Amino acid sequence: MILSAETHEKIREEISHFPHARGALLQALHFALQERGRFDKEVFAEIGQFFAMRPDEVAEVVSFYSLFNQPRAQAVVQVCTNLPCCLKGARGIVRELEQRLGIKAGTATPDGRFALEEVECLGSCATAPVVQVNLNPYLENVTAEYLATILDSPEVALAARRPAPIISTVPPGVEGYLLPPDGERWLSLDDYKRHGGYQAIVKAGQMTPKEIATLVRDSGLRGRGGAGFATGVKWGFMPPPDGGPRYLAVNADESEPGTFKDRQIMERNPHQFIEGVMICSMAIEAVAAFIYVRGEYSECYRLVRDAIRECYNAGMLGEHALGFNRRFDMHIQRGAGAYICGEESGMLESMEGKKGQPRKRPPFPAVRGLWERPTTVDNCETVSHVPAIVLRGADWFKAEGAKNSSGHTLFGVSGHVKRPGIFELRLGVKMRDLIYNYAGGLEEGRSVKAVIPGGISMPILRGDQIDVAVDHESLRTVNSLLGTAGVIVMDDRTCLVRVALVAARFFDHESCGQCTQCREGTGWIYHTLQRIERGQGVKRDLEVLADCCNFMDGKCICALADGASWSARAFFTQFRDDFEAHVAAGKCPFPESFEV
Ligand SMILES: Cc1cc2nc3c(=O)[nH]c(=O)nc-3n(C[C@H](O)[C@H](O)[C@H](O)COP(=O)(O)O)c2cc1C
Ligand code: SF4
Ligand code: FES
Repeated sequence: MILSAETHEKIREEISHFPHARGALLQALHFALQERGRFDKEVFAEIGQFFAMRPDEVAEVVSFYSLFNQPRAQAVVQVCTNLPCCLKGARGIVRELEQRLGIKAGTATPDGRFALEEVECLGSCATAPVVQVNLNPYLENVTAEYLATILDSPEVALAARRPAPIISTVPPGVEGYLLPPDGERWLSLDDYKRHGGYQAIVKAGQMTPKEIATLVRDSGLRGRGGAGFATGVKWGFMPPPDGGPRYLAVNADESEPGTFKDRQIMERNPHQFIEGVMICSMAIEAVAAFIYVRGEYSECYRLVRDAIRECYNAGMLGEHALGFNRRFDMHIQRGAGAYICGEESGMLESMEGKKGQPRKRPPFPAVRGLWERPTTVDNCETVSHVPAIVLRGADWFKAEGAKNSSGHTLFGVSGHVKRPGIFELRLGVKMRDLIYNYAGGLEEGRSVKAVIPGGISMPILRGDQIDVAVDHESLRTVNSLLGTAGVIVMDDRTCLVRVALVAARFFDHESCGQCTQCREGTGWIYHTLQRIERGQGVKRDLEVLADCCNFMDGKCICALADGASWSARAFFTQFRDDFEAHVAAGKCPFPESFEV
């Protein structure tokens, strides 16, 4: 036995939460990695015994997840180099660290003390640049000078802490219902109850499941995970109960670059999130809910897990769950670094302890979801709206938003603005207001060249389109989409070929490779953009890019390929001049732009 008795005990305890042991596989691998610092055949064999898996089957799962495949070192310094962090100088941070450590990103020092990695969006774009050492709490708003102070030894790097600034606010004049006011954090059961918490689940307990679903359908709540599907309508897709288990799977994977709102809910108001999970589960008559949090969000994982434990200890979950009049269970799982595990069916695969490769549909999750049983997938923010809807009613919720876009949302603003952050506001706020009023506008003398309205997969807008309202219907009129309401702002110095390149690199990196169009198409787009950015592009490249997008769009198993093609197509149609200027000049004509 090479893993400690304590780790064995923790794995057994984890397994006890799942109807099928393998639901605990990823967490077991996290435990093993934490103890051993690396994987090898012996660890795979020992872990495999818990799950009736061969060592090579365990190794295959491990190979899928980036957090399980980092360079081996005592302290792995991971620098986010996705777009919002690049706009704030992440490339300079990587260069500085490479010089100080004497290694290239993606490698480790020969003594195994440090490794340096470039990683995709860490979900903290308002505090860019962001660094994470191993799975410790993030180091936010970092500078090269600060990082120099933590590189004395791996021990110092691992002990480094910078209090995470609270970057989410309910602006004056807004009556918030998602975030606590004044930067407060309501972490304990008592905190939340003192502010009216857990009254909605009691009220919901006096309604039938159908009445709750009808209320939410009538409120017009649409999913906040990116697709904007009507939540109450989706619940209606669950088949009638057949006596077997049914589940709610909650998506807190939050990996879409430019999106960092779910983290604010989990770190500031975890019990409202849990109450939302309980009510949604009641509406779909689920026996249990499983929450999937991205692996890097170690603080969210800890806070939500602790809040769930508090509820169990208070008798609000388990045998006689509050409001349910029956048994109801809730458990939290963590991912291990793969954007595609945010796609609902990829997430279900990952929750079952497999590689997070999306499933072909039909059958949809409502028919065959977790462990082949009926399952609804809802996003973390989506469920967090539900307690307020139950308490205040459908008409109130509708009046809080715009036409076909009910309620508030947590708008994230990052990039070239003075006060990046999360703002709880009604859907339908003007993009100009969001940028200039709430996020403080741009640096003196600068103007908006481009805005991505809802996470990097959403089509980009030009600076002359920012009078649009930010809601589902209005954004369609300018050929874009609301997505996750994560707004990335770029000023007039920005090279849009570089922006397109960062986006394309992300999709190429994150494609799970199942579909030829996505696997090959994301690679072609990335490499073509690399050539154009280096000044080696030719005119025909723009046609090749358009062909690639047509070849991918709507032809694959999941919507990653659609997002990749929509975003690429919008870059070169909205900012064609930037692309043609690169080809004509044989170099990047924007010397003041951010570095990639
Ligand atoms: C590539 C890809 C990544 C996604 N990532 C996330 C994510 O990180 N979080 C999320 O809630 N939804 C994500 N989604 C959307 C989910 O598939 C799903 O629509 C959502 O979780 C449903 O919840 P909602 O209806 O409450 O929005 C992603 C979709 C795709 C195609
Ligand atoms: S579209 Fe891309 S990410 Fe989605 S299943 Fe196919 S290859 Fe995987
Ligand atoms: S945290 Fe770096 S881009 Fe989001």
